[in-house]
Amino acid sequence: MSSIRDISLAPVGQQKMEWAWQYMKILQSIQKEAEKEKPLDGLTLTVAIHIEAKTANLCRVLRSAGAEVILTGCNPLSTQDEVVAALVADGFEVFAWRGATAEEYEMHIEQALSYRPHVIIDDGGDLVAMLHGNRPDLAARVIGGCEETTTGVMRLRIREREGTLAFPMYAVNDARCKHLFDNRHGTGQSVWDAIMRNTNMIIAGKNVVVAGYGMCGRGVAQKARGLGARVFICEVDPVRALEAAMDGFFAVSMDEAAGVGDIFITATGCKDIIRKEHLMKMKDGVLLCNAGHFDVEINKPDLYALSKEVVKRRPNIEGFVLHDGRVLNLIGEGRLVNLAAGDGHPIEIMDMSFALQTLCAIDMAENGKGYAKKVLSVPAEMDTKVARLALSAMGGSVDKLSPEQEKYMGK
Ligand SMILES: NC(=O)c1ccc[n+]([C@@H]2O[C@H](COP(=O)([O-])OP(=O)(O)OC[C@H]3O[C@@H](n4cnc5c(N)ncnc54)[C@H](O)[C@@H]3O)[C@@H](O)[C@H]2O)c1
Repeated sequence: MSSIRDISLAPVGQQKMEWAWQYMKILQSIQKEAEKEKPLDGLTLTVAIHIEAKTANLCRVLRSAGAEVILTGCNPLSTQDEVVAALVADGFEVFAWRGATAEEYEMHIEQALSYRPHVIIDDGGDLVAMLHGNRPDLAARVIGGCEETTTGVMRLRIREREGTLAFPMYAVNDARCKHLFDNRHGTGQSVWDAIMRNTNMIIAGKNVVVAGYGMCGRGVAQKARGLGARVFICEVDPVRALEAAMDGFFAVSMDEAAGVGDIFITATGCKDIIRKEHLMKMKDGVLLCNAGHFDVEINKPDLYALSKEVVKRRPNIEGFVLHDGRVLNLIGEGRLVNLAAGDGHPIEIMDMSFALQTLCAIDMAENGKGYAKKVLSVPAEMDTKVARLALSAMGGSVDKLSPEQEKYMGK
């Protein structure tokens, strides 16, 4: 029995899903094959995901491949209640609502797990962590699964190193068709979309500080430059910092950037990037945003401790009023700004990531019993298949190596 907020929102969710589906050409093509072959027939898939229109379409594809699909959220603030309602109206079991407390969030994951999954699709690693921690009795039944994001893959690798990973998991994040596009262009565009739609402010001429020059940080920095901002990068890896400097950005420490920035965006997958000593130096009216998976990159306890009051300034924006009257504005509670205060990545980008997830789930269902209980790389053929479909949907094409060229290149 689903656990949701308001079923009457279903028509709005349905409309959002239909809009997205029109532009999800890769999943449309995978669905055509899957509907015929039903590779997930008889299997239960538990999916922990940012529940919004595009992920809802992914779940429909998984169902048309034969699976019973059970959904839960992967972040308390990224669930869209109207999409949840549309899914439940369409017969899915969903356990999630926007703004779940920590206890509710865990309860939803436990409820979703109680359907005893054969295959897991996770985003960020909470589902897998709770399965191992709270429901180890279910592990033997799980054939395997896949993980969507950098932070989730990092958590899986820790578990693998400790020797406690109970089933194989594909690291979808590490596929080229995932991180090169989703993390870079997807996060790059959707972070700015969320900041602009929530603040109604100009980006041109602003000092933008991006922490982390990985796949996400690069995208956020590139798009900020395109919008006319001056961009400062904070890194701990000297090579990445050098790369940022040679890409034309200012490589600085957070200590130096704190008093200069107008907009701060963390995208490191680490914790405590912006803390008390930085907050104390900041200008009145700064925007604080996080794009990393968890809400630990901007130290919220420090923000509360420094503030005399917290005021609601606009939807999705809280103003932290410091004792000297300065106001620091936190967007989306410091959770992934593009999902907590926006619609997430652009449709065509998620079409690629979800195509990879679908292919990985199908492969896991068919072959997972023979795989080692490890974090697995997505096979190159899957990456190539998704790239070809995406390129063709964009009207692009590629050349082919001639036999002579193959020989010359040693292929
Ligand atoms: N918002 C989204 O929709 C979205 C999409 C994909 C990934 N993510 C998340 O974003 C985060 C970053 O992902 P990524 O793929 O860019 O990772 P990445 O590993 O490619 O890059 C992270 C970078 O941060 C740097 N870093 C680590 N700790 C730091 C610190 N204390 N100070 C400064 N820099 C530091 C690292 O050196 C690295 O260069 C992860 O949590 C990931 O799960 C979010």
